[in-house]
Amino acid sequence: MSSPLRLGIAGLGTVGSGVVKIVQRHHDMLARRSGRPIEITAVSARTRGRNRGVALDGYAWENDPVDLARREDVDVFVELIGGSDGPAKAAVEAAIAAGKDVVTANKALLALHGQELAVAAEKAGHVVRFEAAVAGGIPVVKALTEGLAGNEILRVMGVMNGTCNYILTRMQAAGLSYETVFEEANQLGYLEADPTLDVGGIDAGHKLALLASIAFGTQVNFAAMDIEGIERISIEDIEQAADMGYRVKLLGVAQLTGRGLESRMSPCLVPMTSPLGQLENATNMVVLEGDAVGQIVMRGAGAGEGPTASAVMADVMDIARGTRLSTFGQPAAELRRSTGAQVSAPAPFYLRTALLDKPGALAKIAATLGDAGISIDRMRQYGHEDTSAPVLIVTHKTTRAALDEAIAAMHGTGVLAAEPVAIRIEEV
Ligand code: HSE
Repeated sequence: MSSPLRLGIAGLGTVGSGVVKIVQRHHDMLARRSGRPIEITAVSARTRGRNRGVALDGYAWENDPVDLARREDVDVFVELIGGSDGPAKAAVEAAIAAGKDVVTANKALLALHGQELAVAAEKAGHVVRFEAAVAGGIPVVKALTEGLAGNEILRVMGVMNGTCNYILTRMQAAGLSYETVFEEANQLGYLEADPTLDVGGIDAGHKLALLASIAFGTQVNFAAMDIEGIERISIEDIEQAADMGYRVKLLGVAQLTGRGLESRMSPCLVPMTSPLGQLENATNMVVLEGDAVGQIVMRGAGAGEGPTASAVMADVMDIARGTRLSTFGQPAAELRRSTGAQVSAPAPFYLRTALLDKPGALAKIAATLGDAGISIDRMRQYGHEDTSAPVLIVTHKTTRAALDEAIAAMHGTGVLAAEPVAIRIEEV
């Protein structure tokens, strides 16, 4: 059997402890599968004394992850600290400079600095791998990089933030407001330390930016993504959408169009009978479409100790076996710069508002849509209140720009009794 592959693990939170447990529990199995023992030689975390439910006494301890990254007895630096800058970035840079391979679960770091880190590592003949950064236990990076390597990828879609999916499905199932369920999610410990990373769509946007880079051979371009969170989704929208046969999801979509790379993370309506529509609680789902394979749907836990550690180990095992894949599926120095598409592909939209309940009000609203070139597919009034009438309209395919033009004109009609809410309906 070959010499051991020696890991240095920085960050001993949920995921780090999970990796230690797998290495300890499956030591012999991992060695048989990779042809060499996988050993942990050193670890690092912010606090040393905490009980993490795993024995760490056989491992050297470093207070500073940069020192860990530079250790002679570390072959692979496993970065599980998190954060786009600060210690995680400094330690990964130090590891690359010291000639180590890197495995990371850090989506924010790679979404913002992945291009330069991958170029530096590849120039030095080393790898940076990140299966655990996207959709937790779902092996989607491997699916795109390896399983679908013979396909031109047409579209990548995903529900990749479990917290948002929990909030949206819990609102729907229990008829609760966003604010109430947000607080529940907080109590359950589902929210990131900065909750806007979750509910603002940023965490999921980081993940989509990474997948888009592999899928389309483009440099990671998080800044070009259109991002909208779920903070303004009301229980009324969830219930009205359900009544029309839809579910609300925080959905990421990336596709290469004639106008450039279209990538957006935003609340969308999807048919409730579709796999995405049926996705419940904190589960993640990624949908990949290739020209040869057609559509692939992958579903599983997007976070948590076991699933994320499982993904970290997939990368560790590749390195142990001598499988040295480029970070983004092809040499990073050859990735094309992507220009963000300024305009999204046309889609049907859900539009909810309320009108003053008086003659001609509906006609005025319909006229604003007609003037913007928007055709109405379905429309209904429901639950009349004293002086206003809630109205729901589903349009035929149109652009967001045309819809915004119509909404601006609606404000000038004098018949609006509520601010219009527009949500894209995604064809999945
Ligand atoms: N906060 C993330 C989620 C965890 O809810 O999916 C993994 O990024």
